[in-house]
Amino acid sequence: MEVTATFADTREKYQGTVGLLPTLGFLHEGHLALMDLLRERCDTLVVSLFVNPTQFDDKDDFAAYPRDTERDSGLAKEHDVDLLFVPEQDEVYPVGETTIVEVGGVSQEMEGRYRAGHFTGVATVVAKLFAGLQPDIAMFGRKDAQQLAVLKSMVRDLRFPVSVIDAPLVREPDGLALSSRNVRLSRMDRERALAISRGLFQAAEQVDAGERRGERLEGTVRRSVKGLEVDYATLASQDTMVPIDELDRPAVLAVAAHVGGVRLIDNVTFDWADGRPVPDRGLLLAKPSRLT
Ligand code: PAJ
Repeated sequence: MEVTATFADTREKYQGTVGLLPTLGFLHEGHLALMDLLRERCDTLVVSLFVNPTQFDDKDDFAAYPRDTERDSGLAKEHDVDLLFVPEQDEVYPVGETTIVEVGGVSQEMEGRYRAGHFTGVATVVAKLFAGLQPDIAMFGRKDAQQLAVLKSMVRDLRFPVSVIDAPLVREPDGLALSSRNVRLSRMDRERALAISRGLFQAAEQVDAGERRGERLEGTVRRSVKGLEVDYATLASQDTMVPIDELDRPAVLAVAAHVGGVRLIDNVTFDWADGRPVPDRGLLLAKPSRLT
C-alpha cells in the first residue's frame, strides 16, 4: 500500500479498474467491510481519508472529529488497499476556490432540514474526489441513505463517468448501526440506542406481513424510540427522498435521534422484487466490533 497526498500522484499509480471508497477516516468495521466488498470489484483500490470541513454544520464537531492516520493506515493495509489518499486541505480546496456543488430536491428533506449546508459540503467534496481521482467505480454505504441518493443524483446530473455502488448497512450483532460516533455513547446510552434498530426491524416485519401505510410504519419506530429526542422518523422514496404515505415503490424508513448528546441515524431500505417491497436490514457482524 502507498499513501498519496495529491490527485496527480495518485492517478499515476493506477492499473486496471479503479475503485474509490471515500471516508472521513477514523475507520471502523463498517468501512472495512465496504473495502472488502469493493476490493472484489476493482484492480486498484483507493481509499480516501479526508475530514471535509465544508460538510460539518458545527465547527466544534469538525474540531472534535477523531483523526488518526497511522491507525487508519494500518487497517487499510490489512484490508489490501492499494492507495490511501490523504490530501492536505489545499489540495482539495485550493486557495481562492469559489465553486460549490448543490444538489436540489433529494437533499431537502430529513437530514437536509436538520443539517443546513451538509449535503452541499458532501456533494462538493465528492465531486472534487471524482474529478481529481477519476475512479471507474465508487462505493457508498446505505447507512447514509440520503447521502447515497444525493450522490447518485449528482453523478446523473453532472454526467460523471463513475458507477456508484450501494453497500449494505453494517451493524453490530445486537443491531446497532456502526458509526464513528458510537464511541461517544456511554454503556447505558448504547443500550438505549438499540431502540432505534429494534423499531426499524419491527417495522420491517410489519412490511413482510403486508403493512404498507407509512403512518403505521413511522408510528412503530416512534413508539420504539419513545424517550429519545427524535428529529424525524420518515418513510421516503428511495430515489427522490421525498416522504411518501404508502410503501408502493422502493423506499427508505429513516430515523435520526439523539441519545445522550450523540446524534444517530439509521434506516431500513425497501428494495423491490416481484412487485413487493423487500426489506434490507443490512449486514450483522458475527462478533461485536473491536474497533472503538
Ligand atoms: P464516513 O462517515 O467516513 O463514511 C464513509 C463511507 O462509509 C460512506 O459511504 C458511509 O455511508 C459508509 N458507512 C459508514 N458507516 C457505515 C455502516 N455502518 N454501514 C455501511 N456503510 C457505512 O460518509 C462520509 O464519510 C462522508 O460524507 C464522505 C462520503 C466521505 C464525504 O466526505
